[in-house]
Amino acid sequence: MNDIARRVKRSFLEKFGGEPVLISSPGRVNLIGEHTDYNEGFVLPGATDRAIILALAPREDDSCRFYACDFNQDFSTSLDHLKKSDLHWPDYLQGVLKVFLETGYRIRGLDVAFGGNVPIGGGMSSSAAIEGGLAFALNYLFNLGLDRLILARLARQAENDFVGVKCGIMDMFANLYGQPEKVMKIDCRSLEYEFFPFEQEDIRIVISDSRVRRELASSEYNLRRQQCEAGVSLLKHYYPEIKSLRDVSLSRLVAHQTEFVPVVFKRCVYVIKENQRVEQACQDLLQQDLVSFGQRMYESHSGLRDEYEVSCPELDLLVESASRVPGVYGSRLMGAGFGGCTISLVRAPAVKLFEERVSADYRQATGKDPAIHVVRIEAGTRVI
Ligand code: GLA
Repeated sequence: MNDIARRVKRSFLEKFGGEPVLISSPGRVNLIGEHTDYNEGFVLPGATDRAIILALAPREDDSCRFYACDFNQDFSTSLDHLKKSDLHWPDYLQGVLKVFLETGYRIRGLDVAFGGNVPIGGGMSSSAAIEGGLAFALNYLFNLGLDRLILARLARQAENDFVGVKCGIMDMFANLYGQPEKVMKIDCRSLEYEFFPFEQEDIRIVISDSRVRRELASSEYNLRRQQCEAGVSLLKHYYPEIKSLRDVSLSRLVAHQTEFVPVVFKRCVYVIKENQRVEQACQDLLQQDLVSFGQRMYESHSGLRDEYEVSCPELDLLVESASRVPGVYGSRLMGAGFGGCTISLVRAPAVKLFEERVSADYRQATGKDPAIHVVRIEAGTRVI
């Protein structure tokens, strides 16, 4: 048991008493394939060694008592009073409970203490770690017999319907399906997935958290989704078989360019190209060609900045600064954007220089230090 698990368990015992089950639920990285999941495209994520630990015990009644160790905040409710809270964090737990109840699964109240080292709002999907972790826990505690795919879907539904962010399935899928030293290419239409080796002997995944948090992130995210849907509806007039941008080739899109609102056109171009980049990046991994892989990461970032417009000056600066460090293969913003973090692939001996240079550049331009985390690809949600 690591220090965080010990701390969370101790908090649970102080708050609630009894013997909890401990669950480790990781944050994710995504090597490439951003804003493609809700367009039924491809993504390439993995679970990490940064995790939320949940300590839980079922109750005999319908009360729910939560304690967030990292904020030192309590929240109490009951299964028939689940509604959004001004504290926000309880919504990730409440949302999952609500979705389980509405789907008809038999659960009771529970006591939960949780805490971890996934940067909150930092682009590594701390929210999906809580949701996926609780979905996994409910299945375990109440013997529901659900497979991980159902759990991922329920966790996503909690985020979509209760929290209100219309996210895709990538985060929960990575959280629940992760394997050590492997990334997964997920086909977000069929939900078929394939693991690709990602050995971490000579290479490190470095997350640079800009510490920028934008309130507008969720509304802008939902707007991007609508813009993609607008693109699909336009093309559907000509090609009724099209269901999502996944079905559209660049040449088809370009053939109708003049009919598009320019901003919608740009969004569609990005998504179509990003899907192609994921497919090519998987080939790069098979051929162990990290130089080419890294190049696609830079291209992905440029697309996110110029076509999808979800970057911000701080993230652009982090990527630019990373690109100047010898030993960096590639770098891009990761996650939804509008703040949060970048992901860089760095040769192991170059990590120290990376930290020094990128921190110095960032400090000089913004007056702030980025938070830099070196993470490993690890197993998905599990009981510890
Ligand atoms: C967030 C969402 C994911 C995905 C990414 C962008 O992390 O939760 O579903 O859409 O943004 O790739």
